[in-house]
Amino acid sequence: MPPASSADPPASSTQVRWETGLTPGDHAALSALLRAAFPGPEFEPDRSWPASWARKEVRVWLEVSGAPVAHLGFERRLAGTPTGDVLLAGVGDVAVSPSHQGRGLGAALMRALADVLPDAADFGFLQCREEVAGFYASTGWTRVDNPTRFVDVRDARSVREGVFPTFVRPGRRPLSGWPAGLIDLRGLPW
Ligand SMILES: CC(C)(COP(=O)(O)OP(=O)(O)OC[C@H]1O[C@@H](n2cnc3c(N)ncnc32)[C@H](O)[C@@H]1OP(=O)(O)O)[C@@H](O)C(=O)NCCC(=O)NCCS
Repeated sequence: MPPASSADPPASSTQVRWETGLTPGDHAALSALLRAAFPGPEFEPDRSWPASWARKEVRVWLEVSGAPVAHLGFERRLAGTPTGDVLLAGVGDVAVSPSHQGRGLGAALMRALADVLPDAADFGFLQCREEVAGFYASTGWTRVDNPTRFVDVRDARSVREGVFPTFVRPGRRPLSGWPAGLIDLRGLPW
């Protein structure tokens, strides 16, 4: 094995946990990471899930020296498509601690997700801001042009529909099985 260099991501361990198995200490540590990466009101000191978006059911995170430094969550949901339902793992709350960004931890986090997705859902699915689309394109996600329909996070009532930056990756089904046409998320987005 070649020696470690400063360009390598720091050594990390992977945690994969059901939401129901998180302790108050886990929520506090994850909230600290998420508040640093997403300044604003979505996360509070003891609440490590976003106020307005769909609550996740599984967390995947990387720890360095016992502290979480990279995190994502996903929720499985049957989404409607023109050719029938697909089981999505809707991914969100993707964040690397600002002090650890740019060192490959985001890519390592996506490799950890790739290990669990085949047991979890047909496809991984996420939507993002255009500014970070390049990150997902670099880490195993494929951009698709399907329109999507979902409940608007701004009021949790209205329905929005349109084409937004959307990425998918294989789970238990190959990407060749990804459907064309409108994807109805049947709820809040992730
Ligand atoms: C986006 C984020 C998760 C990236 O994590 P990271 O650990 O810095 O990313 P990595 O170092 O693993 O980079 C992996 C690849 O993505 C690229 N990349 C990273 N951030 C990028 C960005 N904002 N835009 C385009 N490409 C990006 C890297 O250049 C690298 O590409 P390469 O493999 O071709 O060299 C991190 O910057 C972050 O937490 N940002 C704040 C929260 C956020 O915006 N999350 C996304 C919400 S949708």
